[in-house]
Amino acid sequence: MNLYKYVSNAINEKLGFVANLETPRNRDFGDFSTNAAMVGAKLAHKNPRELAAEILPKIQELDFVASAEIAGPGFINIKIKNEFILQNATAPQPRTEQNPLVIDMDYGAYNVAKSLHIGHLRTSIVGDTLNRIFRFMGHKTFSWNHIGDWGKPMGLIIAWIERLHPELPYFQEGFDPQTHVDYEIDPNELNTYYPAASALAKQDADFQARAQEIKAKFQAGHPGYFALYEKFLAISLRAMNNTVQRLNILPFDYDLGERNAAQYLGQVEKILNEKHMIYESDGAMVIDTKRDTDTAPIPPYMWRDSRGADTYDSTDLAAVYCRKIKDNPDKIIYFTDLRQSLHFEQLFRTADKSGIYPYEKFEHIGYGTINGADGKPFKTRDGNAAGLDDILDMAYEAVNARIAESNKNLDAETIKTIALAAVKFNDLIHDVKSDYIFDTSAITSFEGRTGPYVLYTAVRLNSVLNRATIEPKIVDTTINADERNLLLAILDFDRTIDTACENRATDLIANYAYNLCQLINGFYHECPILRDDIDESTKQTRLYIAKLARDTLVTATNLMGLEIPSKM
Ligand code: ARG
Repeated sequence: MNLYKYVSNAINEKLGFVANLETPRNRDFGDFSTNAAMVGAKLAHKNPRELAAEILPKIQELDFVASAEIAGPGFINIKIKNEFILQNATAPQPRTEQNPLVIDMDYGAYNVAKSLHIGHLRTSIVGDTLNRIFRFMGHKTFSWNHIGDWGKPMGLIIAWIERLHPELPYFQEGFDPQTHVDYEIDPNELNTYYPAASALAKQDADFQARAQEIKAKFQAGHPGYFALYEKFLAISLRAMNNTVQRLNILPFDYDLGERNAAQYLGQVEKILNEKHMIYESDGAMVIDTKRDTDTAPIPPYMWRDSRGADTYDSTDLAAVYCRKIKDNPDKIIYFTDLRQSLHFEQLFRTADKSGIYPYEKFEHIGYGTINGADGKPFKTRDGNAAGLDDILDMAYEAVNARIAESNKNLDAETIKTIALAAVKFNDLIHDVKSDYIFDTSAITSFEGRTGPYVLYTAVRLNSVLNRATIEPKIVDTTINADERNLLLAILDFDRTIDTACENRATDLIANYAYNLCQLINGFYHECPILRDDIDESTKQTRLYIAKLARDTLVTATNLMGLEIPSKM
């Protein structure tokens, strides 16, 4: 139940106008506070405090109200009946939506032959959590791993391999794709090719030109380049799969990226040409994306570069076209670094103008940067830009060290689970748009706003529930403050997920989970459950509350893609 909505609607209905309901931080004066008297006073030209006195009995009549009092200039503070709280708190259930939306979500979007960097962490984690939230809310989502498998890096990598092994059959005239080529690429080495080739291209104009030429020929279907590409593509797809598993994110519905989109370029070009949207500029083919209302200049969208090659821009538009045909989505949502905002603004405008997909159905969720203590993008100890695996390894080491220190005995799988929770929870608790500082020690602490703290709380509750031999059940409706506050938080789950979904604010779920854990731990300390001196009815009721709390927390951790270990 969304208690907030329930109370708010009941008050509005009773009074016949819409007032604002607040949840005061300090619950001593009430669980909710309404400004109804102020709103009503304005409507009726009356004094708010006088009107509050008139309204008060009506609010007191509501069956869930234990007490109501006037405060300050005319606020009415409301306390909810204990029985009502206890009877209506339920574990969250996935929703059934009458009018589910079809949502295409573009996140992850890993690149072929490039190891994942720290930036891929946020798109994966936040994208995955939002996907889980949408599904929980009853919507139909399709997740697209829009792989970077077609552009400039492909040309650079093939050119690099050509430099290393010019004798390979792939580079010989008249290469037959049926030919078996005895050449294997070492997966670790593969990741070094792109950085090396792109560094060389910056200094060596001939190499740069060669890579561009290869890219154009590759895109035009050169059999040798294509056969070689398929070799390293397979390695990369395997690595991506490992990442998905290592991050415990849902498998993608489509691992289809730029190359898949490129098949639709002809159809899209036809549409663009019918609308006379493409024109030549400095040898390239471009599309105007300016609008009269622009206050800053917005550059044209690159349809084809001056060598006639497909671009990130053109394949992204073709991908929209493909999604429209395949899924016919009500929304397309992209998760990338904030720095790609201009690209998406251009894409949305172009898609809209061409009639392929309307501007207002697109969303771009741009996330901030993960920084080191120096405020600059996070680097590993040796000064290199941190890869995703580095981050997970560092978190593992930090958790491992803590476990050793505390003389606990946990297996490697459990430590991995805790380390992943540390990284993911920390990512989720920050507002998506803001940068944050990555501090391995802080995020792996077992106290405070951390993943390990959340897991630990869940493990503890599980252990109580597993030990119990009596049935969890409401026997006694007298509840104390700790039980009450915990139940009110459980009753706030539905509101939290409504708001998180509406505002695409995954941090609300993480913060909710943390607050819930604090209340759970308060309850755990103050309200012994299975102790011998506790009477049976209290035991059962407390066990009931513990179970509700556990189920609510598990729902939240599932939404964040965190696993709860059996022991910690
Ligand atoms: N592969 C790109 C990168 O790693 C992100 C692609 C995002 N999605 C898209 N449709 N452009 O930066």
